Amino acid sequence: MEKIIDEKKQGQSLLLDQKEGNSRKLFIESYGCAMNFSDSEIVASILSKEGFNTTQHLEEADLVLVNTCSIRDKAEQTVRKRLEKYNAVKKINPKMKVGVLGCMAERLKSKFLEEEKIVDLVVGPDAYKDLPNLLTEVDEGRDAINVILSKEETYGDIAPVRLNSNGVTAFVSITRGCDNMCTFCVVPFTRGRERSRDPQSIIEEINDLWSKGYKEVTLLGQNVDSYLWYGGGLKKDFDNASEMQKATAVNFAQLLELCAKAQPKMRIRFSTSNPQDFTLDVIETMAKYHNICKHIHLPVQSGSNRILKEMNRLHTREEYFELIDNIQRILPDCAISQDMIAGFPTETEEDHEDTLSLMEYVKYGFGYMFAYSERPGTLAGRKMEDDIPEAIKKRRLKEIVALQQEHSAYRTKAFLNQTVEVLIEKPSKKSDEHWAGRTSQNSMAVFPKAHYKVGDLVKVKVTDCTSATLIGEAIGYSENN
Ligand code: SAH
Ligand code: F3S
Repeated sequence: MEKIIDEKKQGQSLLLDQKEGNSRKLFIESYGCAMNFSDSEIVASILSKEGFNTTQHLEEADLVLVNTCSIRDKAEQTVRKRLEKYNAVKKINPKMKVGVLGCMAERLKSKFLEEEKIVDLVVGPDAYKDLPNLLTEVDEGRDAINVILSKEETYGDIAPVRLNSNGVTAFVSITRGCDNMCTFCVVPFTRGRERSRDPQSIIEEINDLWSKGYKEVTLLGQNVDSYLWYGGGLKKDFDNASEMQKATAVNFAQLLELCAKAQPKMRIRFSTSNPQDFTLDVIETMAKYHNICKHIHLPVQSGSNRILKEMNRLHTREEYFELIDNIQRILPDCAISQDMIAGFPTETEEDHEDTLSLMEYVKYGFGYMFAYSERPGTLAGRKMEDDIPEAIKKRRLKEIVALQQEHSAYRTKAFLNQTVEVLIEKPSKKSDEHWAGRTSQNSMAVFPKAHYKVGDLVKVKVTDCTSATLIGEAIGYSENN
């Protein structure tokens, strides 16, 4: 989902359009995946109707909310550290209330209230609409909790308040939950069963964003290719839907097309794709529309057939290669990125070599790589011993990261002397004289500002590069601007 948010952005407090007359102050910060950042925008929208404006100063907050991630142990430790910080601030601001949202809230439930005295409120990812009631309880001096997972909730009817926005790119969530049950993954337990959002509300959100000047949306879901709208309800119940519902159902390729057509100049991205659910018609739809960005985040996790099976990833290495071949044949200029896990239980040196050779085959543009972290409650957590020593996990991870760096540099270099289309997002971090933006393939590009402005789609001639960034010069507006 450009999924893991830039580390530097993690946890940043977020600023929302301030609503006149609101007197209470909300400090909200998010950790983990893009879905959490998107959910915080829904929460801010719900609370803005309850009299809250956001603040960037923890010390003056009436309510502090932290949207949490459980995906690896380290992510949970980060949140625990933040709670210590809130504890210190509460000493100077005793009226401050603290709530935990997201995956850790769902995983730990009432344990949070027992373990962390600072926490007044625990709310799972499907219960945000209950926040006003829960806050009344907190105001009356009681701890409050709602971690009920839903079969229907998609928040399709809530217009998110854009937080910390550059005014150009935005997330639009299209599915919630995941039915895949990869054996290492906690998400199906913390975010519940998979359900899709009404395409009409997705299109309306995109149209609204366009009218406000946004130029790019990323459609978000744990497994976007599994999107299926047949009037609401769980994905797994589709087989029991009526003939009418089946005949009018909308799948992911169709949704992509609807989005691309609704706003032909809005750039469309999506994340994350699971290889087992990725269909050829998605690639063909991508080929048909210039405004669908040519980048697929296609996590594979391992290159070994034996490990893929242990992970309950429902495809083989060979099927993955076939998919890669199809993407490269139909979309020769499409970038592909990965997620990889090093040191899954029972992983041998040979399995690890299979991962490296798979990477050699694909030569990903970039990737997010992790050492296996056992998660309580998952199938691997319950049934498999976490038997790969930390030092070996670290060494294998290091090898995977080093190879990815080589491939990233190889992919970046291929753009040298080419002209690419870049959407300007913000000033470059390194120089105020330069703009930064991304190409369709999701490569970052920087170039002198000249007379261009944020939100412009420009043609950039690439003259130089680092391993991950293109450096060049804008030579005019794109014909798609
Ligand atoms: N479909 C999701 C994937 C969520 S998890 C999405 O849209 O982002 C993101 C990545 O974290 C996974 O692809 C996997 O590589 C990694 N991950 C998940 N569980 C993990 C675990 N227990 N240990 C290490 N990495 C893990
Ligand atoms: Fe997790 Fe696998 Fe779903 S990685 S989010 S269970 S596709």
